[in-house]
Amino acid sequence: MKGSFAGKRIIVTGAASGIGLACVRSLVDRDAVVGCLDHDGGALRALAAWSEERIVPFEVDITVSAEIDAAVSRFANDRGGIDGVINSAGIDLLAQVEETSDAEWRRIMAVNLDGPMHVCRAALPYLRRSGGGAIVNISSGAGLQPLLHRAAYSASKAALQMFSKSLAMEGAAFGVRVNCVCPGAVDTPLFRGSLDTADDPAAELEKVNARYALKRIAQPEEIAAAVLWLLGEEASYVTGTAMAVDGGRTFH
Ligand SMILES: NC(=O)c1ccc[n+]([C@@H]2O[C@H](COP(=O)([O-])OP(=O)(O)OC[C@H]3O[C@@H](n4cnc5c(N)ncnc54)[C@H](O)[C@@H]3O)[C@@H](O)[C@H]2O)c1
Repeated sequence: MKGSFAGKRIIVTGAASGIGLACVRSLVDRDAVVGCLDHDGGALRALAAWSEERIVPFEVDITVSAEIDAAVSRFANDRGGIDGVINSAGIDLLAQVEETSDAEWRRIMAVNLDGPMHVCRAALPYLRRSGGGAIVNISSGAGLQPLLHRAAYSASKAALQMFSKSLAMEGAAFGVRVNCVCPGAVDTPLFRGSLDTADDPAAELEKVNARYALKRIAQPEEIAAAVLWLLGEEASYVTGTAMAVDGGRTFH
């Protein structure tokens, strides 16, 4: 698939780790230029060293709209436009509702919902100008069906789906497609972090694996493959979907 994104200018958030990083690698392999947004400056610098020509790093906090506006407009102005956006930055929270503080609730919503909104809003004028384009937001299987002790996380991911569907209706008028990918468990630092809170992480992983029809969790590259399909021309008639990529768990 080398060259299938040749000349395309794509913004990826959460670019320094996990699913976002797998998307960046696949896009660079396909000759895109990628504006990489993340708040982990060290990881971003390591990523940028990998391809100075194709990776443009921006150290930003996606919850701060002024930082996003500045980064998105700089990328668009330097590269002459934007053709696509992948919102992958996100955080998890494992907590019962009774033990969820106001600050934890607000932080989950700020990162998982406000962040993608900031990026979509900043990028839309440029997507319009380039005659269309596509947005893929990374939601979660937890936004399709509830997950125990993840009320805040599940609510933020379900809201992201409805935001994306609403934006798909708006975007259709000017040729912008908007979709969500809803992964199940994926082997990334975010997933490993929650696994490590278990008394016996290896036993917990076995339990998680057993929940999936395919009896295993995903690798980030398997999610990136679905994201790139939705982002690319082959999905030209697909908009407003929330596509489960979850090894057979939610059966949506
Ligand atoms: N890993 C899973 O099991 C899983 C399952 C379903 C959905 N998801 C979703 O996939 C997305 C990516 O998750 P991942 O597993 O790759 O996680 P990850 O922790 O490996 O990567 C997330 C990246 O987002 C960045 N980030 C977090 N908050 C940020 C902020 N405020 N501003 C800028 N950057 C920020 C982090 O620095 C990190 O580089 C998330 O939205 C997550 O909710 C993950």
